[in-house]
Order: sequence, then structure tokens, then C-alpha cells
Amino acid sequence: MNGTILALAPMAGISDWPMRTLCAEQGCNYTTTEMISAQGFITAPDTLRVYQYLLAVSPDEPRPVAQIFGHREDYLSQAAARLSDTGLFSGIDINMGCPAQKVVTSGSGSAMMRDLPGCARAISAVRRATGLPVSIKMRLGWDAEHICAVELAKIAEDCGADLLTVHGRTRMQQYSGKADWEQIARVREAVRIPVLCNGDITSAETALEALRITGCAGVAIGRGALGNPFVFAQIAAALRGETAALPTDAQIVATAIRHGKMMLAWKGEHSAVLEMRKHLCWYIHGKRGAARLRTRITAVDTMQEVFDLLEEFLSLQNSEPDQPA
Ligand SMILES: Cc1cc2nc3c(=O)[nH]c(=O)nc-3n(C[C@H](O)[C@H](O)[C@H](O)COP(=O)(O)O)c2cc1C
Repeated sequence: MNGTILALAPMAGISDWPMRTLCAEQGCNYTTTEMISAQGFITAPDTLRVYQYLLAVSPDEPRPVAQIFGHREDYLSQAAARLSDTGLFSGIDINMGCPAQKVVTSGSGSAMMRDLPGCARAISAVRRATGLPVSIKMRLGWDAEHICAVELAKIAEDCGADLLTVHGRTRMQQYSGKADWEQIARVREAVRIPVLCNGDITSAETALEALRITGCAGVAIGRGALGNPFVFAQIAAALRGETAALPTDAQIVATAIRHGKMMLAWKGEHSAVLEMRKHLCWYIHGKRGAARLRTRITAVDTMQEVFDLLEEFLSLQNSEPDQPA
């Protein structure tokens, strides 16, 4: 891939095709599906709807990378092979960073970082199973006493991985504290394959700073893209030495409406509205009247109500500020 990689970080329940499409339109050039259990995918009946949803790819989006999690090489490699055969994906990413209790209890996600020989076996097995690029998503280590990102990065490179995404926190930190970009720089220096810097990148300024500190091939953005696919256009502009204007309220509303329409066409009204409730809160976050609208957003039942609320939000932004009493 030419130029800086601007990636949407995988997010369970969020990085589905509507979200990926909206981010790609804004200049995101690397997307990943939400995580898929390798074992679940291999052992579930083909018709199981959850996998049809998790793996849905739009013909209008650039092909995403499929992310798998699990700790058994046999399931990981079979899942990698089957996902590759679909022709829908541009790569296979192995999740070695998820901190969720139910994932680490089975030895998957960030728990893999406690067993580096196991990581080597898993990466090698996936490497053998697919002709697509293989990438690894990791954290710095299990906890502050067991930082092993550099070691794992070298192992991954030796086992044939093509790219690494490093979230600059340990598993025990979960999402607290601040992502340590200096440690990500150490990982980047230790390998020749591209490394994406991840954690706390939410704007053009933070992206440039993370790239300066780490020298990484790109950045991966998770929470900073929630309700804000525009962040990719802002970073792309900053990399060209330009300043992109912040999105107008009308642009935000138009994007949220398109998001809702894609969800509706895909999931039907009930599920689409439930999904859009959270996205709406993110789209209007920090804006005038957002707190009041949020309470009503949690109660919307139809997509028309979603669109009406967005129109109301827009008129509120355009109205005169309240006069002090
Ligand atoms: C709601 C949510 C879901 C996530 N799901 C995944 C996932 O499925 N796979 C994964 O590798 N990381 C997942 N992550 C972690 C993100 O990819 C990313 O590493 C983390 O949020 C730090 O980046 P950020 O500060 O840009 O959000 C998730 C994070 C959030 C907030």
C-alpha cells in the first residue's frame, strides 16, 4: 500500500460494513471486520445468522481484513482458509489484544501474549493456511511487569506476518491510562514489516504526533472514529500539509442519515434502529442540546424517528443561543 496507512481499528459491534464504508469515503484506506471466533465460525452451521452479519461485506467498500480470535491453531488456520476462500477479504488479522474476560479465560485475545511459543504456532499455522496477507493485533503485554510487544513482534515477523497493529496499553490497563506511543516506537524499530500505531489517536494533531514519535507506517483509529468518520479526512489533509475544515452540522446529519439508511437496508427496522441509537449519541456528542436529545434517542423505535431527531438536532444547532434569564 502506498502512503500512510489510515486504518479503522476493529471494534466489535461497530466496525460493520456501513461504518467501514463511511470511513473509507473519508480517506480511511485500511479496514478490519469486528472479531470473529475462529472456533465458532468453523463449528457453526453455515446458516447461522450471527456469522452472516459479522462477515457481511458491501460491494461498494474496499475489501476489509477479516479478524479472527481463538487460541487453537487448528481452528485459527481453518477459519483463515475458509475466510480467504470467500474472496471477500484482503487479509487475515489475528486478535492478540482483546482484554475481555470471556475471551482471555479461554486463552484467546490478549491472553495469547502470555504464551509466546503458542503465538508463534498460531501465526505460522495461519500463515500456511492463507495466501492473503496475515497481520497481528496486539497490546504491549499482559501487564506492566510483562511487556513483550517487541518480542512478539519479532516472532510474528519471523513466522511470516505482514503487518502489526500495536495498541499502546497492557491487557491489565484495559482502556485506562494513556496509550504509550514510545513503546510502540520500540516495536517499530525492532521489525521491518509495517507497524500501525493504535491508542488515543482522535484527531489530525494526535495522528501527526503519534507518527512523529513512532515513525510507524500508519495509525489505527478506534473510538476516535465513533460518530466521526471525518477524522480520516482531517488526518489525510494534515498529511498533505493542509487543514481540513471540521464537518459542518449539516454534514454530520447527512452522514448519520446515510448511516441509518444503510443499516435499514441491511438489518431491517428493528435491529437497525437499535444499532443507530448508539451511533446517534456519538454523532451528536459534545454538541448543543446533546444531553437532552440523548435521553430521547434511547427511546426511538423507528428509523423515521431517528431521522426526525436528526433534523431537530440540526435546527437546534442553527437556532439562536438561549438568552440568559
Ligand atoms: C467497543 C470496542 C470494541 C472493540 N472490539 C475490538 C475487536 O473486535 N478486535 C480488536 O482487535 N480490538 C477491538 N477493540 C480495540 C480497538 O481496536 C483499539 O485497539 C482500542 O480501542 C484502542 O484504540 P482507540 O484509542 O483508537 O480506541 C475494541 C474497542 C472498543 C472500544
